[in-house]
Order: sequence, then C-alpha cells, then structure tokens
Amino acid sequence: MNGVEVKPSPIEGLGLFATRPFRAGERIRRVNIVREITEDAPLREDLGERIEHCSFPDGKVLLWGFPDRYVNHSCDPNAYEWHEGSDIYIVARRDIAPGEEITFDYNINLTGGTPIPCNCGAERCHGVIFGDFFALPKAIQREYRPLLAHWFVRRYRHLIEALDAEP
Ligand SMILES: C[S@@+](CC[C@H](N)C(=O)[O-])C[C@H]1O[C@@H](n2cnc3c(N)ncnc32)[C@H](O)[C@@H]1O
Ligand SMILES: [Zn+2]
Repeated sequence: MNGVEVKPSPIEGLGLFATRPFRAGERIRRVNIVREITEDAPLREDLGERIEHCSFPDGKVLLWGFPDRYVNHSCDPNAYEWHEGSDIYIVARRDIAPGEEITFDYNINLTGGTPIPCNCGAERCHGVIFGDFFALPKAIQREYRPLLAHWFVRRYRHLIEALDAEP
C-alpha cells in the first residue's frame, strides 16, 4: 500500500498507520468507497459489513473499504476527511511521522450519532466520542470549522454562523 498500513492499534482493534512522512495539508489517499447503502441494497451483516465502517455524508450512507475503514478516532486528530464531489480524501492536519497512527475526529461532519466511550489517549480527550459536532466545546468547533464539508456547512449554517457571535 502507498504510504499506509493496517495493524493493531493502542486505541482500538486495528488502525491505519503511516509508513512514510506526510506534510500538513498533504492528501494521504483517496478513500476506497465500496458502495452506497440504500433500502434496495442494505448492509449485509451476514457478509461481515458493519455500520462502524460507514460514513454519513449529506444524508447518504457510504460503506468504506480497506484500508480506510480502519481509521480510528482521536480527540486531537492528525488527519481529516476532505469531500470533493463524490470523492473523499484523507488529508494530513499536521505533519505525520512514519509509524504514527492516522486518526480522525469522528464528530466532524456528524450530528445525532450515538455517544461511545473514547480511548484515544490524547491530552484533550473528552472521554467520549459524542457523535455530534455541536456537542464539542465551542473552541474546538471553531478550530475544526475550516475542515467541515460544504454540505455540512450548508445544512447547519445557522449553528455554524452562530459560532462567530458566541464567546
Ligand atoms: C471505522 S472503525 C475503526 C476501525 C476499528 N478499530 C476496527 O478494528 O474495525 C470505528 C470503530 O472503531 C472503534 N473506535 C475507533 N476509535 C475509537 C476510540 N477513540 N475509542 C474507542 N473506540 C474507538 C469503535 O468501535 C468504532 O465504532
Ligand atoms: Zn478521545
């Protein structure tokens, strides 16, 4: 694989790791999307397909493939998803060294998810993955604002614009 590998993670199960350095802002890879999950083509749990390996852009449900489905969550992530048309890229949020685990904050571009305990180990870990961007502390919502997908900003414009006004 080009610059990444999947192996056991101290955060949870398997994770995605860098095998070469990446610079802040560099595209690490384009996400391998298996397919869209719909009523006519539902998730096949009998075939090992898991909702944990899906993302939810703009009301859709997309099943992620290998190796991208192994990106774990961190409350201080070194990468983020960048949506461009129907493509999703994994982009470095800061410089990443070989051997570092590549992580996202799952709360970005998400609302109304189910909270789960977080084991990311970051100094600023909230102890929980809220499953909801707007449950994050306001300062962190502001920090992530440039990373938000266009569709998310469009859908929740009133809440995102309110970030400017609030202390
Ligand atoms: C996209 S998968 C990530 C790959 C997963 N580690 C695996 O081996 O399949 C998402 C799932 O990983 C687990 N996970 C990811 N980040 C976590 C974290 N910071 N703390 C606890 N569990 C986490 C949760 O079970 C979550 O539903
Ligand atoms: Zn955490």
